[in-house]
Amino acid sequence: MISLLLTHTIISLMVSSLSATETPVIGIVLHEIMRDTLKSLSPNSTAYLAASYVKAVEAAGAKVAVIKLGEEESYYRNILKQVNGLLIPGGDAEFDKPNGYANAVKVLYNETVKLNEKNDHMPILGICLGFEILIHLSNKGKELRADCNSNSVALPLQFKPDFEDSNLFRDADPYILQILSTQPVTSNHHDYCITEKNLTKFGLDKEWKVLSTNEDENGFEFISTVESKHYPIVGVQYHPEKNAYEWKESQNNPHSADAIYSARLFFDWLIKEARKSNHSFDSLETQYENLINNYKPLYTGRLNMTFEELYLF
Ligand SMILES: *[C@@H]1O[C@H](CO)[C@@H](O)[C@H](O)[C@H]1NC(C)=O
Ligand SMILES: *[C@@H]1O[C@H](CO)[C@@H](O)[C@H](O)[C@H]1NC(C)=O
Ligand SMILES: *[C@@H]1O[C@H](CO)[C@@H](O)[C@H](O)[C@H]1NC(C)=O
Ligand SMILES: *[C@@H]1O[C@H](CO)[C@@H](O)[C@H](O)[C@H]1NC(C)=O
Ligand SMILES: *[C@@H]1O[C@H](CO)[C@@H](O)[C@H](O)[C@H]1NC(C)=O
Repeated sequence: MISLLLTHTIISLMVSSLSATETPVIGIVLHEIMRDTLKSLSPNSTAYLAASYVKAVEAAGAKVAVIKLGEEESYYRNILKQVNGLLIPGGDAEFDKPNGYANAVKVLYNETVKLNEKNDHMPILGICLGFEILIHLSNKGKELRADCNSNSVALPLQFKPDFEDSNLFRDADPYILQILSTQPVTSNHHDYCITEKNLTKFGLDKEWKVLSTNEDENGFEFISTVESKHYPIVGVQYHPEKNAYEWKESQNNPHSADAIYSARLFFDWLIKEARKSNHSFDSLETQYENLINNYKPLYTGRLNMTFEELYLF
């Protein structure tokens, strides 16, 4: 009886240490406003966030905290101590512009690596430009992207032979892997590509494991999924947040039941990893202040804009 109780206690301890929080909060970095259409919508706004990222994270079981641009380094360190994971969204920011998206991600990525080095679990999911900038930063800010063209194109992933030997796909539903590898469900919208050739050339193959590749409209091969070999950091060149939440017809975002189901894998992975982080906000009031719930999205799909709904800041 006692040994049974003891076993039970040990198992509970193991389970609780695996799940450091059941109320994860994901920090999402805002984006600079580059497009004139957004400027005309709200001349005084300086940043935006597509609501699809927020919805995808919330649907996977986490709250969303806003990470602002143009703040002091201490702001980014401080918010990182309080969230359980990061999502770096796509967009069209320039990497050498000070005080914007690139600078915020630089501080966050650098600190995240340090936290993970100290076994302070902190996952990142980088999507499209968010993926590109993670690789760019690990290349010490040296440009390694090639120009390419993969816009409004849906593709099946070309998995690497050992792709299942990965943090991202190890526990995946085999049906999702079948969908991802056989159906054109990943939504591509990018003019830059990162190749395996450059990853090797710059010595980054020691840092990153390529899980899948694809080809652009001219047959130029690019990396479509990577993960860090050392930390819970994943990058995808495609947009899994668009399948369920972005409806602009000319984007050709795949909306089949299988596309919706398989896109959830990436957010489920992020939240699964975030549950292993024991970070929490300094107070409930501080958490409330930082949550996206303080803001209202605009319905921009009706204006034929790229995003169905977006937040302006
Ligand atoms: C934008 O800012 C200017 C200067 O502060 C102000 O006069 C104007 O009313 C603002 N416009 C809007 C739409 O808020
Ligand atoms: C973080 O910044 C420090 C100081 O600039 C640098 O030495 C280190 O390589 C950076 N880490 C990463 C992962 O870029
Ligand atoms: C969280 O985990 C880190 C790393 O294991 C540890 O140093 C820290 O004390 C923990 N914090 C809390 C609040 O449990
Ligand atoms: C490699 O990176 C350079 C920039 O440093 C870029 O101009 C070139 O197109 C890239 N080549 C490939 C094959 O990715
Ligand atoms: C919406 O925008 C797309 C291109 O972004 C264009 O092809 C389409 O004609 C537009 N539709 C309407 C109703 O304006």
